[in-house]
Amino acid sequence: MSITANEVVGPVRIEVEHRMPGADGGPTLRVLEEATGAERLRFDCFVRGAHWHADPAGRDEQFPIPLGLDSIDWTLAELRSNAAGLLALGNVSGVDVAGFVAALDRLEPALRNGPPRFDRLSEAVLRQRTGEKWQQYPDDVLPLWVADMDFEVADPIRRRLAHALSIGDLGYPWHPQPTALPALFADRMQRLYGWEIDPRKIELLTEVVQGMYVAVRQFTEPGDGVIVQRPIYPPFVSTVEKLGRRLEDNALREAEVSYQLDLELLREQAQRSKLLLFCNPHNPTGRVLRRAELEAIAEIAIEHDLLVVSDEIHQELVYEGARHIPIASLSPEMAKRTITLTSASKAFNIAGLRLAVAVFGSAEVRKRFLGFPRHLRGGMNTLGVMASEAAWRHSDPWLAEVRAYLQANRDFVAEFVRSEMPGVRQTPPEATYLAWMDCRELELPASPGRFFLEHARVGLSDGPSFGPQGEGFVRLNFSTSRPILEQALGRMAKALRSR
Ligand SMILES: Cc1ncc(COP(=O)(O)O)c(C=O)c1O
Repeated sequence: MSITANEVVGPVRIEVEHRMPGADGGPTLRVLEEATGAERLRFDCFVRGAHWHADPAGRDEQFPIPLGLDSIDWTLAELRSNAAGLLALGNVSGVDVAGFVAALDRLEPALRNGPPRFDRLSEAVLRQRTGEKWQQYPDDVLPLWVADMDFEVADPIRRRLAHALSIGDLGYPWHPQPTALPALFADRMQRLYGWEIDPRKIELLTEVVQGMYVAVRQFTEPGDGVIVQRPIYPPFVSTVEKLGRRLEDNALREAEVSYQLDLELLREQAQRSKLLLFCNPHNPTGRVLRRAELEAIAEIAIEHDLLVVSDEIHQELVYEGARHIPIASLSPEMAKRTITLTSASKAFNIAGLRLAVAVFGSAEVRKRFLGFPRHLRGGMNTLGVMASEAAWRHSDPWLAEVRAYLQANRDFVAEFVRSEMPGVRQTPPEATYLAWMDCRELELPASPGRFFLEHARVGLSDGPSFGPQGEGFVRLNFSTSRPILEQALGRMAKALRSR
């Protein structure tokens, strides 16, 4: 059944149905007589050929939904502003209009987000994608490497982009104030983490990594110490090295389960460094730091006057049992010395649209960062602005589904590795869709990345690219359909057995 939500309001039932999924389709909103089930109003909010019906059981009058506005936006706006008139057209009486509009508000997320189809990915379609994930390797390799998800984007994002194309809306974006993004982002951070941000302290960037480069360039001099915590997402180290700063590796310590901070070393390094390039949730280990750990870092940063550039791009991909805390939210003192970098790109799978957010804890830090000319940074991407807005405004139901799917994939990987890949150790990540696999015990003839590429035809991220601590590890991206994941893991286990 493709009916995904309904609400009864007195004599009527409002129903959301997704019987026409896909690029040209869209949801249907029906108003039915509760007693008989007779249809009184129907809005077919398709991308192509959107229309609505009044009293289709009787006169069945059909009207086009005007082009120009997205048909879901149009339907909701019409029903909210003129519920009584439309209900009368459908021959319905005795409906409490305020109650009807409140029910519509509750149904809106289900109307905008169809049921997910994460299990149904076609490899042939995925191989048509032009991004690096599916282009890097030949066709017989299953690519489970770079941090993109294989899933299609949320319906609200897809519709927003399709609408932009349909009206030729690809001109210069309005930079920077008039986009709704700073205010939307600030609201979201308040709602998710209780983190209060003044939207005026937010700047839109092209990339998170770009934000790291600009921060290091603006706040340190060549030769200054910049601390990173390896193993780490490779651009952390290249930012420091390419800009000629001195790398201070505050390597994470391997613990019984996962990794721990080395705070003693951090204290020592802070005395001879200017900046901490920080990553939480952490890529590749998948750790989410607890409040006490963040407070210990904050204490050191404050004591030694470190600027903290905090990459929190994986913040909305945290699984049950852990909770993300933005380091800038710990205290006003900490906020002042923090630049938080994040993006809708990881959680909503729109990395190619190139849009990120920087939050500055003080006007002074903001001014110095923005001292790096905007035209050297490059501008925003119109489609990235639209997609991020659609993500943060309307796509939370999709995100909840994706997180649940990923969590199940994460658990599946852990169980599979435990039972089918003896000698591989893996702690399920608390966040991210990346499994950091310790293959050292296997004593493979080559690095594990190379071994699994050659013998299993699975493309993974090889451990050493995350630092010397990654020797003997691989990182596997499990954000794909279960059938593809099973196939890749099956091939990896087989390669190990036939060694
Ligand atoms: C921790 C981390 N930071 C940054 C990025 C990349 O962000 P952007 O493309 O906005 O530079 C990634 C992508 O995988 C990441 O994992």
